[in-house]
Amino acid sequence: MSSIPSAKRIDSTLALLRNPYGFIPDTCSDLESDLFETRILFQKTICMTGAAAAKIFYSENRLVRAGSMPGRIQKTLLGEAGIQGLDGKAHHHRKRMFMSLMASERIEALENTTRDLLDRYARDWETTDKVVLYDEVREILTRAACAWSGVPLPEEEVETRTAQMTALFQDAGAVGWKHWGARLARHRAERWAAGIIERVRDGSLQPGQESAAHVVATWRDLNGKLLTPKVAAVELLNVVRPIVAVSVFIVQAAHALHRHSHWQQKLKDDKEQLEYFVQEVRRLYPFFPAVAARVKSDFEWRGYRFSEGHRVLLDLYGTNTDARSWNAPQEFRPERFKDREENPYDFISQGGGDHHTNHRCPGEWIVISQMKAFCDYFVNAIDYDVLDQDLELDTGELPPLPKSRFILCNIKLRQ
Ligand code: HEM
Repeated sequence: MSSIPSAKRIDSTLALLRNPYGFIPDTCSDLESDLFETRILFQKTICMTGAAAAKIFYSENRLVRAGSMPGRIQKTLLGEAGIQGLDGKAHHHRKRMFMSLMASERIEALENTTRDLLDRYARDWETTDKVVLYDEVREILTRAACAWSGVPLPEEEVETRTAQMTALFQDAGAVGWKHWGARLARHRAERWAAGIIERVRDGSLQPGQESAAHVVATWRDLNGKLLTPKVAAVELLNVVRPIVAVSVFIVQAAHALHRHSHWQQKLKDDKEQLEYFVQEVRRLYPFFPAVAARVKSDFEWRGYRFSEGHRVLLDLYGTNTDARSWNAPQEFRPERFKDREENPYDFISQGGGDHHTNHRCPGEWIVISQMKAFCDYFVNAIDYDVLDQDLELDTGELPPLPKSRFILCNIKLRQ
């Protein structure tokens, strides 16, 4: 058996922080290997890239999630004891809870809520000089996510809850005060969500049976018991928070519409193109760089030993832009999705494998439908100009956005 190629440095934490999207694929390319070994946060870590590596990563019996996530990400982005750290039967059972929220009529209902909100917001945009798109979209999505999830959102709380949800996904990986702000946001958001769960359980709040608040509050684990208020709060936030996070992809889509402006006409003329366009944004614009797991028990892959307990990082962005799976991978070419056969391992912005049995994101259909609704609105419902601004994506932050947060002006609703 050969030993796994090693990165030059002993600990690669800084290199990863400096170059979150390039570190794994660039090191793999230097070593001419799909995997290498290093230390991250002083722990032995195997980093892997590409569709073949993703297939191994998502083969259930080899890797587990318990104990794989760094504490700082659990205390901010994800919360503790939620689905992300479950394995085997407990995971499958909890996953059923999330998948039960994803019926196509429900996804359409969320899309309709967003469209109504867009009409309302656009009327205000017409009377304003400049609109910071990211801020507006986050607020729209916070309102839509809460309404759809059966979570009451009094008008005076909109700003606070939007800021809390944003801190969870935007400042989780930050260092210093921003990170501590995200921890505080997690603490407050969980207290809020636990309060909602308790009100559903004592009958003082009665959201629709199909809403996330109702489903999570009444879900019973394999032992037949209700989730504790703390775990239920984490899971309710696992619905509301990522819907707000779709704002990142929406600003990235607006960015792509601006940079590749000939697509505006294509999307106007042909709705089918919307699907290809948003898929290409999801493939090419960076969001989460990698996902983590641990080796359950020793196994061998391509003659390399994976030893029990080692952490494994799967490169999401590098896999989406791997030249073995994608022609001209760095070019923005939505038409590549026409007639493309789906492969659960080569396009993994939201994880890979199977939605029901693996940890693949259950929210993928929501993301696609929301992105389509916004892009459709941008090209068919309003006219606008993009203010002269620096539109480089700031890769110093995760996920990367233009520093200006994408400013629009001269917005007019079409008749
Ligand atoms: C898991 C990305 C939106 C709910 C994940 C994973 C990624 C991801 C990378 C981990 C996959 C893995 O561990 O293998 C994203 C991105 C989104 C998004 C980039 C865009 C904003 C959503 C939405 C929802 C959602 C809209 C729900 C409404 C979840 C849940 C999990 C998850 C519950 C855990 C699944 C499990 O552990 O089995 N997502 N997601 N996400 N996502 Fe999303």
